[in-house]
Amino acid sequence: MEITKICCIGAGYVGGPTMAVIAQKCPNIQVTVVDLNEQRIKDWNDPNTDNIPIYEPGLAEIVAEARGRNLFFSTEVEKAIDEAQVIFISVNTPTKTYGKGKGMAADLKYIELCARQIAKVAKQNKIVVEKSTLPVRTAEAIKSILDNTGNGVQFQILSNPEFLAEGTAVTDLLNPDRILIGGDTTPEGQDAINALVNVYANWVDKTKILKTNVWSSELSKLTANAFLAQRISSINAMSELCEKTGADVNEVAKAIGMDSRIGSKFLKASVGFGGSCFQKDILNLVYIAKSYGLNEVADYWEQVIIMNDHQKRRFSNKIVQTLYNTVADKKITFLGWAFKKDTNDTRESAAIYVADDLINEQAKISVYDPKVSRNKMLSDLDYLQTRSVEENSKALSIFEDAYKACEGAHAIAILTEWDEFTTYDWQKIYDSMHKPAFLFDGRNILNAKELESIGFIYKGIGS
Ligand code: NAD
Ligand code: UGA
Repeated sequence: MEITKICCIGAGYVGGPTMAVIAQKCPNIQVTVVDLNEQRIKDWNDPNTDNIPIYEPGLAEIVAEARGRNLFFSTEVEKAIDEAQVIFISVNTPTKTYGKGKGMAADLKYIELCARQIAKVAKQNKIVVEKSTLPVRTAEAIKSILDNTGNGVQFQILSNPEFLAEGTAVTDLLNPDRILIGGDTTPEGQDAINALVNVYANWVDKTKILKTNVWSSELSKLTANAFLAQRISSINAMSELCEKTGADVNEVAKAIGMDSRIGSKFLKASVGFGGSCFQKDILNLVYIAKSYGLNEVADYWEQVIIMNDHQKRRFSNKIVQTLYNTVADKKITFLGWAFKKDTNDTRESAAIYVADDLINEQAKISVYDPKVSRNKMLSDLDYLQTRSVEENSKALSIFEDAYKACEGAHAIAILTEWDEFTTYDWQKIYDSMHKPAFLFDGRNILNAKELESIGFIYKGIGS
């Protein structure tokens, strides 16, 4: 079967960039990305591609090339489902905030809604692709909904998880380490897998396209995120020990990373990992393990989250302790609010939790981030429901200029590793601050010696 029409439900951080790259690389395939969120679709269709809703290096150019040619953004969900041979489901799968599994399990209500809508609309056989990250065996539930509520058409369900990281989404999509496709072992299942393989083969070497059964594919995605997050918690655990012993965590990371069995990536100690997925996916893994009675497995992975929460809290505690045990009415400037550089995404960013802790201590927080809007920062804080909207907007001042944000500050805290922070005139910043001037580098991106020679009291992570 040759695929000529694809629909993707969900125009978010995964659906938008992934489909833009498929459209760019497969000009003969019509790709329609649909979403219920009218504003998001309007933004994707903004004539000026600098205004598309997701900031990723290189994305605006790809959208400019393919949009209107074979890439379309629309709110007409049913029409797009009806026309497509392949439907990707890329909707959000957040942690449940209610009922059984609250705070742990993945909330699959958006996935189920998609399955029901596909079942209702489809008049011809279709391939349904799980692109969202899902608990192992979700395909079973989707299949049951499709087979029992549909119009008697045949569905093949594939699992094709996405491994892109934000900030590098475009390069990750153009040059993936691997593409994983899980499907049924039946001839029909294998045909569906091969049809999807042929889409990716337009730009990905076939040796990098891995075919598995559905359950392996679903579980591999959760496993990959758990392993990545575990490395960060492992090095962060060592960072605390380094601070007590005089070892330097950057030196330790380099020394162990040169062992080819360990590898050098993902060993950067930090204020803690953020992002929409690591925490949610590990909590989901923990929930799944518990639901099978595998308590030791669950406890093992839960520790990755416990360590990460500890690291965020430890950072805010260190600021308070270093500033003579009180930050009340002191100005603390955050450089960065996004959960990592090169993205405007702030979901689960460490900055939110550190700000919340410091505002509880009555600090005045000033923030500068090159890509995050004022409204986004305030709504992130409001979402925690620690205090009223008015109190949050009084406690948080947002600046469009980093130098202004730092003027008169008692301390600066680096929360995101934006490259531009390393190019600043730190002498000028120092001169404009209260003395002693403290710098808490939550990302270990600045040169401690240089800053200390200017006069800063510099505190990195793990040294
Ligand atoms: P997102 O919140 O940015 O986007 C999801 C979109 O789906 C939203 O715009 C929402 O309005 C839309 N939506 C929800 N229900 C819908 C429905 N019934 N019909 C139409 N639209 C609907 O989420 P995201 O970051 O793109 O993540 C999506 C999935 O991909 C999650 O399962 C996530 O774990 C996974 N994932 C995310 C990343 C990442 O870097 N963000 C990477 C790999 C995998
Ligand atoms: C992560 C994975 O890297 C992707 O493969 C996966 O597809 C994605 O989750 C997902 O499923 O959503 P992402 O969260 O976008 O991608 O970004 P990462 O680069 O993994 O960074 C996550 C967090 O860890 C960031 O806060 C980052 O600053 C932090 N980090 C990363 C560290 O503190 N140290 C490191 O060494 C690496």
